[in-house]
Amino acid sequence: MDPTKAATTVAAEDAAQTRRDSLTIIDNRTGKRYEIPIQHGTIRAMDLRQIKVDEADFGLMSYDPAFTNTASCKSRITYIDGEKGILRYRGYPIEELAERSTYLETAYLLIHGELPTKAQLDDWTYHITHHTFIHESIKKFLDGFHYDAHPMGMLVSTVAALSTFYEDAKDIFNPESRRKQTYRLIGKMPTLAAFSYRHSIGMPYVYPDNDLSYTGNFLNMLFKTTELKYKPNPALERALDVLFILHADHEQNCSANAMRSVGSSHVDPYSATAAATAALYGPLHGGANEAVLRMLEDIGSVNNVPAYIKRVKGGEKRLMGFGHRIYKNYDPRARIIKEIAYQVFDVMGRNPLLDIALEVERIALEDEYFVTRKLYPNVDFYTGLIYQSMGFPTTMFPVLFAIPRTSGWIAQWEEMLLDPEQKIARPRQVYLGYDQRSYIPIEHRGG
Ligand code: ACO
Repeated sequence: MDPTKAATTVAAEDAAQTRRDSLTIIDNRTGKRYEIPIQHGTIRAMDLRQIKVDEADFGLMSYDPAFTNTASCKSRITYIDGEKGILRYRGYPIEELAERSTYLETAYLLIHGELPTKAQLDDWTYHITHHTFIHESIKKFLDGFHYDAHPMGMLVSTVAALSTFYEDAKDIFNPESRRKQTYRLIGKMPTLAAFSYRHSIGMPYVYPDNDLSYTGNFLNMLFKTTELKYKPNPALERALDVLFILHADHEQNCSANAMRSVGSSHVDPYSATAAATAALYGPLHGGANEAVLRMLEDIGSVNNVPAYIKRVKGGEKRLMGFGHRIYKNYDPRARIIKEIAYQVFDVMGRNPLLDIALEVERIALEDEYFVTRKLYPNVDFYTGLIYQSMGFPTTMFPVLFAIPRTSGWIAQWEEMLLDPEQKIARPRQVYLGYDQRSYIPIEHRGG
């Protein structure tokens, strides 16, 4: 036998024998050694607390602003591999769901963990469809908003207000109550969103039509004018349904974290959903597609693309709709959305900004600056173009994100509530302020 091979085998066996799923830490302040278990590729931050300089020491903490390397929960809902560009809900690839599922079926999957049987799906669809009406008093709040109020601001407020109508929503550890609030939230979000939109353009509210699909009814409440019965265009209805599937969940993003964190105080789910919706309102989260549209308008023509890319590379601008904190590959949702864009343009006519977007993508994907930084189109690169072509004003873009994300928020909220390891979310801080000092009377405070 080759002696080098024998040595390698022995070394591997030694390593296997000494291999333990733990981390050894030597504290160079004290010379003490600690062994900390590793489970699922993580150590528990609380295991660091035993590492102390002396008895009076509080113990070591980890410092992680923005949670960039901290898992805040164990989850079985959504899986993302950003390096490989993989997104799965409950194990099912997003590509298969986008092609074969519907939004309501996907919402059922996210919340219940399994795809429904035919009877379960019918029951689920029936209940959500029959919870789409909102209390007439909500129309009074909407009427109180200024004529140009942002629909997302109205949505945040009205979803919070729902908690005042449903006292039973406080009973969060009752599965029956949770189920009812789930029907109500998924059923009423499109109605609140559509009413907010109609208010912002000064049009009368359109009541839900229970004969239509989830997205068909949403289009009805948004766009119906004088016709007796609104007939949604099937291509647009399906395109919106697929966009809703793609936006339904994205594991521990800013708004899901808000839902879990606020929900951890055991507040009702409407108040927690209002907090999650508010998180989504921010331009760093739900508002990037609007920025993409502005950028494409700013570029103005295909001929101007190279000059714009040069400015981006010079650090003058960011290429909006490119790059992602997690995806270091093509965002799998962006690929599907690009196909939908063409389907929508077939119905509504080609969006003139599309050619500019395609040229931006073509140049960026070949350019060394973007390639080395792993900057690929994200979910927002094409959605703005689609929404604009469908007739939505830019202020509605984050609203179109909030409606489908509601099912993901509910799944995350319920998982948090039922997880025995979860408690009220309460991070620690590194205090760098003053030590104790005495109060100074105002006349002694100088200039
Ligand atoms: N255009 C040009 N350069 C970029 C871009 C971009 N869009 N994104 C990142 N870079 C560059 C940075 O300048 C940096 O370069 P450097 O190493 O030479 O300094 C490098 O790539 C790494 O960038 P970071 O900012 O560290 O990446 P981070 O993960 O923090 O940012 C983010 C991710 C915020 C999404 C960023 O890519 C970005 O601003 N993109 C544009 C906005 C956007 O499309 N947001 C939507 C995200 S999807 C969603 O939220 C639903």
